[in-house]
Amino acid sequence: MLNGRVALITGATQGIGLATARALADEGCNLILCGRDRKRLAAAEAELCNKGIRAVAISCDVRDEKSVAAMFAKLQKSFPRIDILINSAGIANAFRSVAQLDTGEWNDVLATNLTGTFLITRAALPLMSRGGSIVNVLSMSSKRAFPNLAAYNASKFGALGFTNTLREEVRSEGIRVVAVLPGATDTPIWGTLWPEAPRHKMMRSESVAQAIVAALKLPPESTVEELDLMPTGGPL
Ligand SMILES: NC(=O)c1ccc[n+]([C@@H]2O[C@H](COP(=O)([O-])OP(=O)(O)OC[C@H]3O[C@@H](n4cnc5c(N)ncnc54)[C@H](OP(=O)(O)O)[C@@H]3O)[C@@H](O)[C@H]2O)c1
Repeated sequence: MLNGRVALITGATQGIGLATARALADEGCNLILCGRDRKRLAAAEAELCNKGIRAVAISCDVRDEKSVAAMFAKLQKSFPRIDILINSAGIANAFRSVAQLDTGEWNDVLATNLTGTFLITRAALPLMSRGGSIVNVLSMSSKRAFPNLAAYNASKFGALGFTNTLREEVRSEGIRVVAVLPGATDTPIWGTLWPEAPRHKMMRSESVAQAIVAALKLPPESTVEELDLMPTGGPL
């Protein structure tokens, strides 16, 4: 069902994005991998090409409109259409109260998690058509507020609002929009968020990827609009 489809994945160099890229490659999807770290991009491209699909890694900073435009100019040479967009690029702010949060960190988190999702989605839409799917990797922090996470919470609440609005706009075009709201998942993001967090209580990024693929494999007349995923033991 996903075999031969083309998926663009942001945040594909590690964590949930890379796990999703691997899962989609196993389904036979061709991949465009986006991230900033060129070494990790090259490693992901080499690994995924070995699975017998086409994988192209393109360096792009989702915060930067020019960088996003350059990526789309480049990718259209190899992939004139996109069937699946996975917005997984994201960062967290370090645990800090609003009183302690500096403007640079606030701006960076909002620019990546909220504006980045908007910039990539706006650029991808002209390449998508009926039957396409957009999956935005949000967070349980899109609905629940946590002290010391104001920038992250604001970006994820905003991204859920963006996602819900987008869904209503593209519904009539036959494009599905899925909001994925994971709880704690064992990825490098916790190095910023809470380095001593109990990783054994978290989900694996492969589990989140499996849920995303299951949503994408639903028959075309049906959709998952919101996917809330949680470690079986509950929040940390
Ligand atoms: N892990 C969790 O517990 C958890 C829970 C709920 C939601 N989430 C969400 O899941 C998504 C993925 O997070 P993760 O846990 O997989 O984190 P991660 O392992 O740190 O991966 C983040 C990815 O985002 C990319 N990225 C960051 N800033 C970017 C930018 N400006 N431009 C392009 N790419 C950028 C990184 O690549 P480069 O460094 O190469 O740019 C990396 O591939 C995020 O949106 C996060 O908020 C995570």
